Amino acid sequence: MKNTVVVGAQWGDEGKAKITDLLAQKADMVIRYQGGCNAGHTVVYNGETYKLHLVPSGILYGNKICFIGAGTVVLPEVFEQETKELKERGVDLSNLKLSPLATITMPYHTEIDGWAEDTVKKGKIGSTRKGIGQTYTDKMARCALKIGDLFDDETLSEKIDIILPLKNKILKEVYGLKEYSKEEIFELLKKYKKIFEPYICETWQELLKENKNKTILFEGAQGVMLDIDYGTYPFVTSSNAIAGGAGTGSGYGPTMIKDVIGVSKAYITRVGEGPFVTELKDKTGDKIREIGHEYGTTTGRPRRCGWFDAVIARYAGLVSGLTSVALTKIDVFDDFDEIKICTAYKDKRNGKIYENYPTNVFMHKYLEPIYETHAGWKTKLSNIRTYEDLPENCKKYLKRIEELIETKISIISVGPDREQTIFV
Ligand code: GDP
Ligand code: IMO
Ligand code: MG
Repeated sequence: MKNTVVVGAQWGDEGKAKITDLLAQKADMVIRYQGGCNAGHTVVYNGETYKLHLVPSGILYGNKICFIGAGTVVLPEVFEQETKELKERGVDLSNLKLSPLATITMPYHTEIDGWAEDTVKKGKIGSTRKGIGQTYTDKMARCALKIGDLFDDETLSEKIDIILPLKNKILKEVYGLKEYSKEEIFELLKKYKKIFEPYICETWQELLKENKNKTILFEGAQGVMLDIDYGTYPFVTSSNAIAGGAGTGSGYGPTMIKDVIGVSKAYITRVGEGPFVTELKDKTGDKIREIGHEYGTTTGRPRRCGWFDAVIARYAGLVSGLTSVALTKIDVFDDFDEIKICTAYKDKRNGKIYENYPTNVFMHKYLEPIYETHAGWKTKLSNIRTYEDLPENCKKYLKRIEELIETKISIISVGPDREQTIFV
């Protein structure tokens, strides 16, 4: 296997973790390069389900180096809980490494996130309340704490003196929230140091050098449509969820990346607010949600469901430079008489057709999907392991998707388990 990025090609929850876990068999190192514990990544292995938020999806093998890169933001309490649970379940974490350059999510980040979610009415994001946007805001504003800072008291003291007065002013005067004393922050950070100590990799440059000629898998979080620059802004997350994020967030440059696999579901889902042209607010949407168990891994919220959108898939192909697609959850349609695919959008006001993604999302309320309808296969797919054995209607449907998205499908997923996969 060549060095590969696994990236979400929709609004997240496409099944990236299943694909990453699967491909990790052939990798030496798996790197999470962006996002934080807003991600909910489910791996099913040996009939057991693991829900990961920050830990890379190669961890279950035990012998793969799993690196959490500089582009990520880390909420210490979630990291602590996640690593504790994995250890209790017998997962070997000796190869889990954390970049000292990853940014720490502080309690005031989650508090402001919660405040915004509870207070803002118009233009609410529907975030995961994990302080993601606020942590990245501070990182970009150059007033964030990095995990490496925890390991030098002098640096820490100096940085707190710079950050805290400004932070307190904002907390008090803008949000009416509780201020923090230096002692309080210091105590908290001592606790965080303990949490990160077993995993911090100060020698990350050597680690990356040693693995440079080995096989690297880059695990994306969220998806292209949640990317800060290319997604449905402002209804996005605050990091580069496109494949390009793997270059900045991992410590390896873009020349290391040879393949980019975009993960798409055979339909599409979204959690949180924002435009969604093919959304189904009817019984079909409910049916997809129930069969596909479309409830958020991180927040438990019901996911909004809709038909596959080839406009989005083509857009993802472009902005993430996809070399192929992994199409997941096609088994959810086993019982459907008809399956629709959106091929383009039409503006209700003037009949204008959009085959490329219109990036001004505030006019999406005027768009309607143009669908084509395909006959279902009415066959259980979950036990099929070869492309040849797929029912004819299913093959036709897959061929048509390939045509519409202008990218080949390299992996078809017919169930949550590692085994339930067809390599094309
Ligand atoms: P991620 O965030 O992209 O890693 O995806 P999530 O883990 O949040 O959501 C995907 C869900 O679909 C998980 O519960 C997976 O176990 C499940 N899943 C993945 N692939 C398939 C598939 O092909 N069929 C079915 N039925 N479930 C799948
Ligand atoms: P994985 O990696 C689906 C969504 C939130 C919200 C928006 C901003 O499991 O695919 P944030 O908390 O990031 O500030 O919220 O992004 N969101 C996700 N939706 N899957 C995810 O991750 C998501 N991470 C964030 O619901 O709409
Ligand atoms: Mg998820």
